Amino acid sequence: MGAGARAVARCDELGSAPYSDDPAGLFRPYLGPGHKATLERISAWMVAAGMTARIDAAGNIIGRYEALVPDASALMIGSHVDSVRDAGRYDGMLGVMLGIEAVAWFAERGRRFPFAIEVIGFGDEEGSRFPVSMLATRAVAGSLAEQPLDLTDRDGIGLDTALHDFGLDLEHLRKAARPREDVLAYVESHIEQGPVLEAEDRALGVVSAIAAQLRFRAAVKGVAGHAGTMAMHLRHDALAAAAEMVLAIERIGNAGTEDLVATVGHMTVRPGVPNVVPGDVIFSIDIRAGTNTVRDQAADTVRAALTDIAHRRQVTLSVELQQDLKATPCDPGLTRLMEQAVQTATGTVPRTLVSGAGHDAMVMAGLVPVSMLFLRCRAGISHHPDEAVMKDDVEAGLRAMTDFIERFATSTVDGAGAVGKADGQLTEQKPDLTGHV
Ligand code: GLV
Ligand code: MN
Ligand code: MN
Repeated sequence: MGAGARAVARCDELGSAPYSDDPAGLFRPYLGPGHKATLERISAWMVAAGMTARIDAAGNIIGRYEALVPDASALMIGSHVDSVRDAGRYDGMLGVMLGIEAVAWFAERGRRFPFAIEVIGFGDEEGSRFPVSMLATRAVAGSLAEQPLDLTDRDGIGLDTALHDFGLDLEHLRKAARPREDVLAYVESHIEQGPVLEAEDRALGVVSAIAAQLRFRAAVKGVAGHAGTMAMHLRHDALAAAAEMVLAIERIGNAGTEDLVATVGHMTVRPGVPNVVPGDVIFSIDIRAGTNTVRDQAADTVRAALTDIAHRRQVTLSVELQQDLKATPCDPGLTRLMEQAVQTATGTVPRTLVSGAGHDAMVMAGLVPVSMLFLRCRAGISHHPDEAVMKDDVEAGLRAMTDFIERFATSTVDGAGAVGKADGQLTEQKPDLTGHV
């Protein structure tokens, strides 16, 4: 079996119990039993590939392939191991498997670099257990300072308990933070999760930037009452109000520029029984766009529309910001190296595109320069069990990753020279990504 086929087979193996918490499909939330079983399996594969493996204070798995010299800084490669509910098998996991295969490829050839390679499987990118996403990624990037950690999941289990049950400790969560000098750069390969590469008959693409996201929690409070006796004109039905709000959010998303998207993906109705007029509704709002400005203007419009609806229907509304991820450019120097690697791997002029989906690279960009490689997926389907990739594309992706690492090594003596070369410092860039999503 080729290395690309093995990476795909491993994702498939991890796509069901005991690596999933749902016996009927794939659901691997942060710190669940499926997550634990998955890390044990990945750890064995990392060791077989020539790495040492450890689980950090946030439940991320990290394999390390040592440099020519001890204690060297690392080029970090990876993605996430958690999944959404009813997930596909490749979102996140394929990037981790390709990291392992890249190291295996070098280890088999006795090739070492002046820098170490660390393969990381982040534990929480999706935010499918607690109300915010990228907790484990932010722990590594050292950007959890502002994040309240008194979070609970849908079953009322606190983050502290979940960490404890996993053998970890909330008190130590922030110790997963990596000092800047430990890491040279972060490189992530990921399925595209969109249709562009397939439409253009391309196996691979290079990500220039990742779109901005906001996540809100909206709470609507009406008055619960007897469904048989409460006259219609006297009701303050929280669910009817929320339904109107969902449609307003959809309308605002539709009315914006092409890159704007707005989604309500989760809703809780209380008391949630057939014969009681709903008194309380809580729902999520996810707003994304190529620029922070478009995203923020849409969020303002949503707030105003929801306030109007609440006023007219005489229910109370609170909208709480839960997460703010700014539009993130990939490092221009590393992107150029990735373009060269893709050109070599595919023999075609590389396609550069903006990611509408969020990725660990968004958070890691706060710590180090980042680069991303996209692999074609069937019909652009993702966050769905029908997610599919082609083995030949994965082989090409692996060739691009190993070629990128060689280019990274030769770009300067210490392996850090490509970073930011094209356009100055990453943090000073304010790209306009409108229309590219
Ligand atoms: C993660 O997949 C996200 O884009 O929310
Ligand atoms: Mn992902
Ligand atoms: Mn995802």
